[in-house]
Amino acid sequence: RLVTVSVIKADIGSIAGHHKVHPDTMAAAARVLAEAKRKGLIIDYYVTHVGDDLELIMTHRKGVDNPDIHGLAWDAFKKAAEVAKELGLYAAGQDLLSDAFSGNVRGLGPGVAEMEFEERPSEPIVVFMADKTEPGAFNFPLFRIFADPFNTAGLVIDPKMHDGFKFEVLDLYEGKYVVLNAPEEMYDLLALIGTPSRYVIKRIYRKRDDEIAAVVSSEKLNLIAGRYVGKDDPVAIVRAQSGFPALGEILEPFSFPHLVAGWMRGSHWGPLMPVGLRDAKCTRFDGPPRIIALGFNITKGRLIGPVDLFDDPAFDEARRLAQQIADYMRRHGPFMPHRLSPEDMEYTTMPQVLEKLKNRFVEAKDYAKAGQAKAQGEVHE
Ligand code: 13P
Ligand code: 13P
Ligand code: MG
Ligand code: MG
Ligand code: MG
Repeated sequence: RLVTVSVIKADIGSIAGHHKVHPDTMAAAARVLAEAKRKGLIIDYYVTHVGDDLELIMTHRKGVDNPDIHGLAWDAFKKAAEVAKELGLYAAGQDLLSDAFSGNVRGLGPGVAEMEFEERPSEPIVVFMADKTEPGAFNFPLFRIFADPFNTAGLVIDPKMHDGFKFEVLDLYEGKYVVLNAPEEMYDLLALIGTPSRYVIKRIYRKRDDEIAAVVSSEKLNLIAGRYVGKDDPVAIVRAQSGFPALGEILEPFSFPHLVAGWMRGSHWGPLMPVGLRDAKCTRFDGPPRIIALGFNITKGRLIGPVDLFDDPAFDEARRLAQQIADYMRRHGPFMPHRLSPEDMEYTTMPQVLEKLKNRFVEAKDYAKAGQAKAQGEVHE
């Protein structure tokens, strides 16, 4: 029997800045999902947060992109945003970019990762949720999990994984997909996903039978809104064990806090720090970017769990390294490559600042003639 796991998230406002979701807003969302569970629309749900992002994890039988499920998530976010407004929380309703819900939350602000599959006798999954970064942040760890035998021993050892995986890559700017096979096309794959601001891994399938293995939310809020509305803090679902990577192979890449785009004002590179739920909040320079990992078993559609996978001393060194990298990057202040490149700053408020300086510029030939004083005073209009 097919089951669908839907992880739908939105920033509907947060306490004391872009820090952390308020518990009353989580409770409001949970009430909406509890009612839907009672009515049988969903089988099970779990509501959580990472930083200022409210996360709805749901199981049901309706498949991906289902209007009832998306409508339910939208209602939950709306109710939570009402509470956020009432409490005067910061950026209440931040990611709810449109009032016109018509069957699907894609393109309206929330992030979505969904997969439908035949439940195995034991169906372990990991749900990753990150704050202060973007969907491309998953490119690096997903490549390592599903294509790098130095990370995933199963690629060598397990006959079911030995043929490799198919990577569906989305070009966020053109809205086009390409599917590349690993290991055969590994170098082509890396040529794309090494540009995580543009090319993002959307789905991964096991090659020998096309079973879905992973899915990432890939909404690009700034491209949707046409202006800076915060980062599209992403989520991902990964299936584990029995022909998929083992749980520990899925977590292993996060022992290296790689640099991701996001952090302060969505404008800086910083290390992705794996944390447990109690540290799922953003403080230093609105970060550093954080990721949580919750493990579940899906059993007859029920969510058994979660277990808080990064709440473990095994990731202490990764956290410590992340803090050292944070120190090092921060010392660059407003300079690249701590600050993002000009193309990636396009959707921040910085173009407004540059616009103001535009008519202060003088052609080099005129500048030499007029001299600096003139250039400062008369030459510019
Ligand atoms: P166990 O023997 O603990 O089940 O471990 C099996 C395994 O594959 C660990 O990666
Ligand atoms: P969020 O996308 O998490 O709301 O972050 C916005 C921001 O500007 C942080 O400094
Ligand atoms: Mg926010
Ligand atoms: Mg956020
Ligand atoms: Mg955001």
